[in-house]
Amino acid sequence: MHQIIIELAKNKLAHFAELKSFKHVHEPPIEIALSGESELQGKWHSFFGNENPITLELGCGKGEYTVGMARMYPDRNFIGVDIKGARIWRGAKTVDEEGISNAAFLRMRIEFMASFFGKAEVDEIWLTFSDPQMKEEREKHRLSHPRYLDIYRKFVVPGAWIHMKTDSRFLADYTLEVLKEEGVEADFIAHDLYGDDWDRLREEDKKHMQLKTFYEQKFLVKGVPINYIRFRLYDKKR
Ligand SMILES: C[S@@+](CC[C@H](N)C(=O)[O-])C[C@H]1O[C@@H](n2cnc3c(N)ncnc32)[C@H](O)[C@@H]1O
Repeated sequence: MHQIIIELAKNKLAHFAELKSFKHVHEPPIEIALSGESELQGKWHSFFGNENPITLELGCGKGEYTVGMARMYPDRNFIGVDIKGARIWRGAKTVDEEGISNAAFLRMRIEFMASFFGKAEVDEIWLTFSDPQMKEEREKHRLSHPRYLDIYRKFVVPGAWIHMKTDSRFLADYTLEVLKEEGVEADFIAHDLYGDDWDRLREEDKKHMQLKTFYEQKFLVKGVPINYIRFRLYDKKR
């Protein structure tokens, strides 16, 4: 047992070291995040070497969506964001092995995203199976809390599409409540995406909905219905 723990720790250290060697993985120090400015801000298109639209997956975990979408849409760019290096390593390794040129990862807390993206630099956001943070005192940590929507507004194009996929009916209902209070109308609401709601999806959406994240697969095995909410995010003063 002791030996297994040592092996796992060694493995994790090796993954962390490899993560640092990847050019498509950014792990900025917290001081940069706190300063509000970084070398990455406004420079993502030159990083990718094209002017294609940028999609962020926030709380990407192992990055199944980031990697899967990058394969599916070579004329768009995808950036997975998560604070956990061990999880990001999985997606980053695949990107390296397959030579995928339109995917990158940023290891950072989502609260600091405005330090890493310039005004209107991002076209779309995916929130995939975000922690529902059900305790009342954790409300401000829900990724659809108004404080997060205000952070996203700082770097998305006006009217950017925001997609939320979640197993949590609690988080879905909370998100819809926030949108109502913000005067934002959801374009698509599903509480059983792969069941009753499937036929309402556009053919294009059905294509990328084939992608399943690590957490999504676990919930589907248990038969948990998946919620999907899509809305456009504009500036408040519109
Ligand atoms: C439940 S997991 C989902 C992971 C992945 N999207 C999936 O569906 O398999 C939530 C992820 O969000 C990340 N996360 C939660 N809050 C975060 C924050 N404030 N900043 C960065 N990452 C965060 C966690 O580290 C975790 O990997």
